[in-house]
Amino acid sequence: MKRILYLVRALPGQELEPLRAWVEIRGGAATAPPRDRLVEEARGATILVPTYLDRVDGPLLDALPTVRLVASYGVGVNHLDLGACRARRVLVTNTPGVLTDATADHAMALLLAAARRVAEGDRVVRAGGWREVDPGFLLGTEVTGKTLGIVGFGRIGQEVARRALGFRMKVLYASPREADFQAARRVPLDVLLAESDFVSLNCPLTTETENLLSRERIARMRPGAIVVNTARGLVVDDEALAEALRSGRIAAAGLDVFRDEPRVPEVYAGLGNVVLTPHLGSGTRETRAAMARLVLEDALRFAKDEPVLHPVA
Ligand code: DGY
Repeated sequence: MKRILYLVRALPGQELEPLRAWVEIRGGAATAPPRDRLVEEARGATILVPTYLDRVDGPLLDALPTVRLVASYGVGVNHLDLGACRARRVLVTNTPGVLTDATADHAMALLLAAARRVAEGDRVVRAGGWREVDPGFLLGTEVTGKTLGIVGFGRIGQEVARRALGFRMKVLYASPREADFQAARRVPLDVLLAESDFVSLNCPLTTETENLLSRERIARMRPGAIVVNTARGLVVDDEALAEALRSGRIAAAGLDVFRDEPRVPEVYAGLGNVVLTPHLGSGTRETRAAMARLVLEDALRFAKDEPVLHPVA
């Protein structure tokens, strides 16, 4: 009998047909069902495929005791209770590597958009607010030659650094480990915050990084600094950041991730100096398709009793 694979929601750019020879595929609607319906639909499934937004915890696994593999679409694992998976001998895989460049590109896109007021400019032009040739109009912040502090220096952080070096930026990073990366200097987080004109958050969400950009740390940042977050919303104290943006102490921010997606914290609503994007870090057709390929490849390997390629340690 074929094993059942349950997709919590549709994955873009992936042909499911070849898998059907090996597994019975269920779910995969455009939006994830509420939990009680999910449990009903996924009953009997061996493989559960959530995305980076879909929580998998002990109660869900208890309600779905046949699940043996959680194959998560995305690299972040903060939505998964790994302890609960381990305790129930449920294997977990993710999709590392394939979204590194796209996410680093998006961090740079937000950095440039925030520095050069791209979204504000677009809004002004569309609203008919560009009426004078005024050399002082909507002035932004120079990027070239400035200091970028990268918090979290794994694959994505290092790719952000490579891109920033192309802008002749000086790159600092804060990370628990020294990286083999000559052109960037590892410094303590507080030094990074005090010395950086731009701060890019590229760390995973863990108990150590939750609320890492706290009110106290924001207060230690350079006046006029710019914050970019393509990591996770919970890394930032939204109230404190919004206050600093309102007062102009932090000049601008580019935010792609939020604590309760797809809801964006109200505090950012009236702030023109924030560029908001809907979790687009990995959002290219190519990358999202590669993520789907990876997640389904491991699901298929598991269904065939072969070792998976991307187990989460
Ligand atoms: C991930 O994979 O964790 C990313 O946040 C998706 O963009």
